[in-house]
Amino acid sequence: MSQENKVVFLKGKKVILRPLSKADIPTLLRWINDPEVNQYVATYWPVMEQREEKWLESLAKEDNDSHVVFGIETHEGVFIGTMGFNFIQWKDRVAVTGALIGEKEYWGKGYGTDAKMILLEYAFNTLNMHKVCSAAIAFNERSIRYSLRCGYKIEGRLRKHHFRKGRYFDQVMLAIFKQDWLKVWRRYQKTGKVR
Ligand SMILES: CC(C)(COP(=O)(O)OP(=O)(O)OC[C@H]1O[C@@H](n2cnc3c(N)ncnc32)[C@H](O)[C@@H]1OP(=O)(O)O)[C@@H](O)C(=O)NCCC(=O)NCCS
Repeated sequence: MSQENKVVFLKGKKVILRPLSKADIPTLLRWINDPEVNQYVATYWPVMEQREEKWLESLAKEDNDSHVVFGIETHEGVFIGTMGFNFIQWKDRVAVTGALIGEKEYWGKGYGTDAKMILLEYAFNTLNMHKVCSAAIAFNERSIRYSLRCGYKIEGRLRKHHFRKGRYFDQVMLAIFKQDWLKVWRRYQKTGKVR
């Protein structure tokens, strides 16, 4: 897509978040079927093009107000991953996030943190959420650390909850409230650092 027609929904310091489109499907398929990537998420079954199309269609439905997923693009225009809310509980104003940076050379360089900070800004200041939750398999240290960096706190563990690599692992439950995020957000806006 040309730069003039670039769709930007949320803008961070390193990335933008934008709606996904059909053109993203081949890239999404490459990421979700990559064992180095999908070891960290719920998918363990091969994902076919048709399933990815259905998933995109479900996101695009007019009556969908419970899940929203954005594409993460660097300011240089590289599509590196997805991030969004897998579930929104409107009555309680609680949202559950999901994230996947599929371009592995972009891991651990602060792109996830930047995307998460603007997603949280949208959650708290636009959607009026009061709490945002996240879950990670215990061996996913990078995910746990980036959530902690953004101000999340560990709320507990579901013991031996995921079977991976021939054994069981705990699921770590994390969450953040608006007031805790605001402190990190103000620092991030001022200094470009979350702590
Ligand atoms: C989880 C994910 C979204 C995080 O995004 P990211 O851009 O890689 O994360 P950031 O660079 O912003 O932050 C990573 C943190 O982990 C640290 N980190 C980097 N590599 C690490 C590693 N191999 N092991 C442990 N920590 C690591 C970084 O130093 C930083 O923490 P610190 O500042 O406290 O030191 C991304 O790595 C990803 O999508 N991974 C694959 C799929 C996945 O795990 N999805 C989440 C499922 S819960």
